[in-house]
Amino acid sequence: MNIKKIFKNNEDWISERIEKDKNFFKDLSKGQNPEVLYIGCSDSRVSTEEMMGAEPGEVFIHRNIANMVPNTDLSAMSVINYAVCHLKVKHIVVCGHYYCGGVKSAMQSKDLGILNPWLRNIRDVYRLYRHELDLIEDEEERYKRLVELNVIEQCMNVVKTADVQQAFRERQIKVHGWVFDIHSGRLIDLKVDFNKMLKDIMKIYHLS
Ligand code: CO
Repeated sequence: MNIKKIFKNNEDWISERIEKDKNFFKDLSKGQNPEVLYIGCSDSRVSTEEMMGAEPGEVFIHRNIANMVPNTDLSAMSVINYAVCHLKVKHIVVCGHYYCGGVKSAMQSKDLGILNPWLRNIRDVYRLYRHELDLIEDEEERYKRLVELNVIEQCMNVVKTADVQQAFRERQIKVHGWVFDIHSGRLIDLKVDFNKMLKDIMKIYHLS
């Protein structure tokens, strides 16, 4: 992608937006009030707002390799805290995607240096579900299932935070697990049973 072209695109975008609504940027600068926190993968093929049909200001976004929510990751934990306690979002979405390079790397025996500790979180998901995963003979299907299970586990990590537990009690915040199918463009709702998850989680992880 040509860097100069990016600035030209930016000018075109400003013109388009102002043509439709002359106060567009003025209004945006007043503040944000998003109802959704989206936690997704950094993959360049996943265009968060575009696939959701979301406008600027509607979705608070956190992205990293393989849409992880490690309990000790200051970045992910800060984003959740800010979105839940300050922006008061109503929904938290963890969105994975099929053909995720991060998930694929975690399925291979390869030393990837600094990426090892990050990807180890995905290997842990594999270990948790190895009985189910090992029954899937087709490698691509196994890989797709790991993408889904990883989303479910990251939803659990979201639920393990005190902020989310408190927000659930006070205002019934909801957590959703989705997968974006790059092959079809479709967004799939894994229909995570949030209430059941919360009940299970609370036995051990009750904080607030
Ligand atoms: Co990915």
